[in-house]
Amino acid sequence: MKILAFETSCDDTAVAIVEDGCRVLASVRVSQVEHNEWGGVVPEIAARLHAENWRGALEQCLGVAEISITAIDALAVTQGPGLQTSLLSGTTAANFLAQLYQKPLIPVHHIYGHLCSVFLDRDLNTVQFPALVLTVSGGHTDLYLWKTATEWEKLGGTLDDAAGEAFDKTAKMLGLGYPGGPIVSKNAENGDRNAYQLPVPNLGKDSLDFSFSGVKAAVYRLIETRKDKSRLVPTEDDNFINDLCASFESTVATIFTKKITTALAQHPGVKTLCFVGGVSANTHIRKALETLSQQSGIQFLRPEKLEYCTDNAAMIASAAYFQKDRATSAYVEADPRLKL
Ligand code: KG4
Ligand code: ZN
Repeated sequence: MKILAFETSCDDTAVAIVEDGCRVLASVRVSQVEHNEWGGVVPEIAARLHAENWRGALEQCLGVAEISITAIDALAVTQGPGLQTSLLSGTTAANFLAQLYQKPLIPVHHIYGHLCSVFLDRDLNTVQFPALVLTVSGGHTDLYLWKTATEWEKLGGTLDDAAGEAFDKTAKMLGLGYPGGPIVSKNAENGDRNAYQLPVPNLGKDSLDFSFSGVKAAVYRLIETRKDKSRLVPTEDDNFINDLCASFESTVATIFTKKITTALAQHPGVKTLCFVGGVSANTHIRKALETLSQQSGIQFLRPEKLEYCTDNAAMIASAAYFQKDRATSAYVEADPRLKL
């Protein structure tokens, strides 16, 4: 079954064609660099660029897969959550094509898409259930118990900022640009991970929730102290930015390993740990979670390619494959606050 999917929940216009939930025939993403100078995504700019870019992305996608829309079995689209006007661009395009070519349309939840990103370019039997899934992006930091491909239970989530957001804000406070994750990670490579003691929140010994506001505030205080001295730019003997990025990245890794350790103790039958979402592109955190999985004797899975960690349409097509029963000929409305 070949599914053509659109994903436009934030600032990337993504279109993909995936066969049987895992074989990626084409995955195209048009990124919007226009937001970088604003230090974050501007919804009006995102929506305008989606409207300009989706046809080109679609044509490129069909070209790579060497297929015509008439040979597609179903369309899929991210229904939510996300930025309202961005979601509207994707759902409008998908509804239009579904009506025009008389194809069923499958609405998909963005986070369920991230869960299914571990199937891409792999055998569908790769994931051994039950699995723990840590989904960490710019808008979410959630922990799920994934029981079968189509059944899950939320175990915890962030009480304030998402981890990706904390990466982005740290980069912004340091004047490093957007998106912050890859930049903070690059700087961290040359820093001392023990240079600064940042707080690891204690939300109760059994809690599987997360909090990043304390870490963010501590980073802010360190930067403000430094600003007074007008020495934010590192020199040869001043590794402040690199050290802070390294300490921050390590603290986030520690927060995750502590929570996963607690979750594994509470759910001893778990066979796999999946790490998905934009922040799963981070090498240091990935290594920490991989080591923990090895020590716990469970399988560790991150999306096969880095491009499947961050937002992409292939994961939406995969998720739609497992939710074929949701296919509709009715108009699919965007829902910015859609619940999983
Ligand atoms: O999943 P995603 O592409 O979009 C959302 O659904 O939000 O995640 C984007 C987030 C951004 O906050 C970005 O800074 C973060 O993922 N990110 C990273 C890395 N690459 C992207 N965070 C840490 N390290 C990275 N290498
Ligand atoms: Zn995402």
